[in-house]
Amino acid sequence: MPRTIHVLNGPNLNLLGQRQPEVYGRETLADVEAACAALGRELGVEVLLRQSNHEGQLIDWIHEARGAAAGIVINPAAFTHTSVALLDALNTFEGPVIEVHISNVHKREAFRHHSYVSLRADGVIAGCGTEGYLLALRRVASLTRG
Ligand code: DQA
Repeated sequence: MPRTIHVLNGPNLNLLGQRQPEVYGRETLADVEAACAALGRELGVEVLLRQSNHEGQLIDWIHEARGAAAGIVINPAAFTHTSVALLDALNTFEGPVIEVHISNVHKREAFRHHSYVSLRADGVIAGCGTEGYLLALRRVASLTRG
């Protein structure tokens, strides 16, 4: 049974490609999903990519990942900077967690410099565009290789 890595995306990322392309680029979330699936085949892992605009849905998906996912790659989007509830949920997950931001949040407004999720994340990738998801997948795959 191949390991499964859950790739979770927070609010507004459904509009990737249309939303502020000068900040987030022109690739869509479907493009990201296809690139993650292709890399997953190369690494011998399954990739399940999901997106929600709702905090509670993301929390339910993190609970679902418990005991089911080898690791989590998460771009919590704006919830990064606001959500203790997401942090608490991630603290119930036993595998590696890599936090991804498409933009370099540290080059942006001060309110984007703090991340609740970083208190749990084993690694953080920011400012590498959508390639950050692929870097994160490689990291989870290498951390969970038997
Ligand atoms: C983001 C950065 C967040 O500050 C922002 O709210 C997002 C996307 C990123 O991928 O760069 O929605 O997580």
